[in-house]
Amino acid sequence: MIMVKVTAKNILVQFKARKLFTFNSLSFCEGDVIYLQGDNGSGKSTLMKLLAGIIKPCSGDVIAEGFAAPKWWQPNTLLGKAVYLHQHAYLFDGNVEYNLRYALPKDKFSAKQLQQRINQAIDMAQLGALLHSNATDLSGGERQRLALARAWISQPKLLMLDEPISNMDKQSQKLVLAMINQLKQEGTGLIISSHQTCGLTALCKKHWHITDNNVVASNHIPSVEQSQELQYVSAN
Ligand SMILES: Nc1ncnc2c1ncn2[C@@H]1O[C@H](COP(=O)(O)OP(=O)(O)OP(=O)(O)O)[C@@H](O)[C@H]1O
Ligand SMILES: [Mg+2]
Repeated sequence: MIMVKVTAKNILVQFKARKLFTFNSLSFCEGDVIYLQGDNGSGKSTLMKLLAGIIKPCSGDVIAEGFAAPKWWQPNTLLGKAVYLHQHAYLFDGNVEYNLRYALPKDKFSAKQLQQRINQAIDMAQLGALLHSNATDLSGGERQRLALARAWISQPKLLMLDEPISNMDKQSQKLVLAMINQLKQEGTGLIISSHQTCGLTALCKKHWHITDNNVVASNHIPSVEQSQELQYVSAN
C-alpha cells in the first residue's frame, strides 16, 4: 500500500524582507508523531500551512506522495487525506451536531459506521450536553474539542494540530490527549505544535524545533516542564 507523505525541500519562507525560516528537507508521513516547538512568532503555524498546501514557499518544493495532490492541494482539506486544524478553530454557523456531520467522507464509511464514529467522538470529546448549542456560542476550549472531534471522525491520514490544548483547562486537556492518543494508535501521522513542552509532548516520537530561522529535526523529545505536566499515562 502506498504511504501518504509530504516532503518539503530547500524551503525558504519570508514575508517581504523578513526571513521567517529556511531548511533543506523535512518529511511527514503516516505513523509520524512530531512535536513542533518554537517561540511565539517563530513560524509554527506557517510551517504547518506550508505542509498542508495552504501557502506556498518563496522557494523550494512541497511534494505530495500517496494521494492526488492537485485535487487535494486546496485550502479546505477536510475531505482530503491531510487536515490542518487551525489554532483558532474554524466552525460552521450551526449547532454542534451539524458541525460534526458536515462534509464527512460518506464513501469511506457506511451510514452505520459513520454514526458509531460520531457517537464515539461525542463521548470522547464530551460534547453530548452541547449537541444543540450553536458552535459560534462555544468557549475557546469547547471549539477546539469540537474541531478535533470532527477531524477524528473523518480519519485523515495526516493531521496537523496547531496548539490543540492552548485554551484548555486540565480536564479538557486530558480529553484531547486521549483523542490524540487514539489517532496515534490508528496510525494517523500527527504534527502537534506548542510553544512549550506539555502533556502532548510525551506522545511524540520526533522533534522539530524552529530556532534562529531554521527548522532543526531530531529524535530527542525534550522533557516536560514540571509545571505543565499532565497526570496522563500514554497507552505506549
Ligand atoms: N501572510 C503573512 N504576511 C506577513 N507576515 C506573516 C504572514 N503570516 C505570518 N506572518 C508572520 O510570520 C511570523 C510567524 O507567524 P506564525 O503564525 O507562523 O507563528 P507561530 O510560531 O505559529 O506563533 P504563535 O506561537 O504565536 O502561534 C509572525 O511574525 C507573523 O506575523
Ligand atoms: Mg501559531
